[in-house]
Amino acid sequence: MAAATTSSDSCCTRCLSFLITIGLTALFLWLSLRVDEPRLYLDYIYVPSLNKTLNPNPNPQTHTNNTIFFTVKLANNNKDKGIQYDNVSLSFSHFTSLNATRALGNATVKSFYQGHQKNAFKKGYLNATGNLTTPVNGRVFYRVDFTTAVKYKILFWYTKRHRLWGGANVEIEASLGTKVNRKGIRLGGNSLAVIESGAPLIRRGYPALPCVAVFLILYAF
Ligand SMILES: *[C@@H]1O[C@H](CO)[C@@H](O)[C@H](O)[C@H]1NC(C)=O
Ligand SMILES: *[C@@H]1O[C@H](CO)[C@@H](O)[C@H](O)[C@H]1NC(C)=O
Ligand SMILES: *[C@@H]1O[C@H](CO)[C@@H](O)[C@H](O)[C@H]1NC(C)=O
Ligand SMILES: *[C@@H]1O[C@H](CO)[C@@H](O)[C@H](O)[C@H]1NC(C)=O
Ligand SMILES: *[C@@H]1O[C@H](CO)[C@@H](O)[C@H](O)[C@H]1NC(C)=O
Ligand SMILES: *[C@@H]1O[C@H](CO)[C@@H](O)[C@H](O)[C@H]1NC(C)=O
Ligand SMILES: *[C@@H]1O[C@H](CO)[C@@H](O)[C@H](O)[C@H]1NC(C)=O
Repeated sequence: MAAATTSSDSCCTRCLSFLITIGLTALFLWLSLRVDEPRLYLDYIYVPSLNKTLNPNPNPQTHTNNTIFFTVKLANNNKDKGIQYDNVSLSFSHFTSLNATRALGNATVKSFYQGHQKNAFKKGYLNATGNLTTPVNGRVFYRVDFTTAVKYKILFWYTKRHRLWGGANVEIEASLGTKVNRKGIRLGGNSLAVIESGAPLIRRGYPALPCVAVFLILYAF
């Protein structure tokens, strides 16, 4: 009798410790697989055709400079995960009214790898089309959107690709050609291409990871 009780006790203990081990392993895996998506910012933009010092008397008849210069900041805040970016496509447009935009052109930040807790500043330019200087109610607004896909590097292997996208409205100083807000503007994905208030459109660029983590944990056992 006594022997039987002991054996069922120790079975129960083993069973419990097995469950706890699985639980802790799952928690550990989940913590180490959890990732922060990278953050993209428009760090700098310069529209020479809006620089009044450069063009005191712009003449629509003459050839105007349609170049737009920009710097995008990409931030990887993960403590121990690298990020492999696909090409980052940027599209620029120009507000022609409070709720309408006209495409100016696209640019690409070439695919690259970014180590953990690093910021990257990528410069580029585009040759835009059309009138870059038309104001709306006396102010000049642009819209900048990005799309890309990233893979996270965890130890020695990569996760699958995750698509990311987002955008922001950017006010350009009408007499300087640089942005009004000195700070980098987050290309966040939850802003609508409308200047005045409107219901914010929440577009999350990153829905899949919790499912992936759960799948991997189940798969591991
Ligand atoms: C605007 O043009 C002036 C004159 O060429 C130049 O000194 C200035 O740096 C330009 N502004 C920017 C933001 O580049
Ligand atoms: C762009 O539009 C503004 C205002 O609508 C106008 O003053 C300017 O001449 C235009 N520029 C060109 C190059 O057409
Ligand atoms: C436009 O202006 C910028 C700054 O002045 C200059 O670097 C660039 O070469 C110009 N682009 C063209 C096509 O003239
Ligand atoms: C990435 O961009 C570069 C230069 O813009 C282009 O040559 C290359 O084909 C692009 N790669 C992909 C996978 O689209
Ligand atoms: C844009 O705004 C104008 C008035 O400024 C309004 O008549 C029009 O319906 C709006 N369009 C959209 C798509 O919201
Ligand atoms: C710019 O990109 C958008 C989508 O990102 C695309 O619809 C458009 O055709 C592109 N324009 C040019 C000139 O490549
Ligand atoms: C920019 O595009 C315009 C026409 O859209 C063209 O005339 C000009 O040569 C282009 N400039 C450069 C530097 O590609």
